[in-house]
Amino acid sequence: MVATGRDLDTEHILRVERERQIPLYAKRDIALVRGEGAYLYDADGRRYLDAMSNYGVAVLGHAHPAYTSAMTEQLQMLTTGHQSFGSDVRALLLEALREITPDGLDRAFLSNSGAETIEAGLKFARAVTGRTRIVAARRGYHGRTLGALSATADKKYRDPFEPLPIPATHVAFNDADALEAAIDDETAAVILEPVQGEGGIHVADPAYLQRAREVTRARGALLIADEVQSAVRTGDPFAMVASGVVPDILCTAKALANGFPIGLTSVTEEISAALPAGAHGSTFGGNPLACRAAVETLRILRDDGLYARAATLGQRIVAGIEALESRQVRAVRGRGLMIGVELRQKATPALRALQERGVLALPAGTVILRFLPPLIWDEAQADELLAALGEVLA
Ligand SMILES: Cc1ncc(COP(=O)(O)O)c(C=O)c1O
Repeated sequence: MVATGRDLDTEHILRVERERQIPLYAKRDIALVRGEGAYLYDADGRRYLDAMSNYGVAVLGHAHPAYTSAMTEQLQMLTTGHQSFGSDVRALLLEALREITPDGLDRAFLSNSGAETIEAGLKFARAVTGRTRIVAARRGYHGRTLGALSATADKKYRDPFEPLPIPATHVAFNDADALEAAIDDETAAVILEPVQGEGGIHVADPAYLQRAREVTRARGALLIADEVQSAVRTGDPFAMVASGVVPDILCTAKALANGFPIGLTSVTEEISAALPAGAHGSTFGGNPLACRAAVETLRILRDDGLYARAATLGQRIVAGIEALESRQVRAVRGRGLMIGVELRQKATPALRALQERGVLALPAGTVILRFLPPLIWDEAQADELLAALGEVLA
């Protein structure tokens, strides 16, 4: 018999994890063992609507047939291979990226996660400008490796690890004057999320991003877009670019390969040319299996019109939540399928109530419910979420 999670019961799985893992995560009390399309199944066979896609990763949902067969084929061909050798699927990915990355960001560094794409971006900015400091936004989240953590704002994550390696100034998000005032001739880069994810789904004003672009350019600092969470799900491949701003460095990860670990740092020709050989590297980065996963993900997103679907479904969900007219809701925010519902009380009880009704969603901070559904949802799933929310927020 094939050993799968289905052979183990929930109690056993959770006990082993509780006893053997470093307890860094607040665990939810179910074990997920299988997924199909928009739904996940736990070890007891219970079905859940997936409104979180593993923190924004599984944009094609689970066990997508075309993605699965491409990955199976690649598993049988070649899975691992260093970037010092050529790879057919890596070349295919680099060509496919030209369809979604803006002109000017023509050079790629491939890695394996969100934090790694940020690390690369920060290292490149320091090497190219010869400056050390960064400016980032309050509530911004960029990952938890030491470099990325320097950019992340939350003191809860930072304090145990001070002093952090990169000196950073954090300024109010969407305040262009504060941003401008913080940039000086020691600033290597400004790093911003076009839609703050972990910080509570706050959408950047296009005018704010445009000022950030102008000021960084004028002061000799680089602009880094952190689209690790926002890429592909806001109605466009990249939210910052859709706001009319092309950064110097564009970082993405999560959804790019539909759950297979990948990180992409896209830079200009000038930045690429200024980096010495060996300035950065990764054993796993750009491996054939990850590249195949990304090629197939981007193909399906394009061919199935999923960028546009994210925009229209997102509008339907936001309008539906507003129509609930719940007194528990302080604000509804979002862009595409990146949606936040700020509550007047803690989000955890509502998340638990949703889970009891068979819907898995996320928090962002203490009072915000966050929805990052797969882009393969249709109206039926949107309405299923709204029905459950209607009960929970009544
Ligand atoms: C905007 C943003 N940047 C960076 C990261 C870090 O990504 P990872 O968890 O893959 O290291 C995240 C993760 O949530 C993120 O949302």
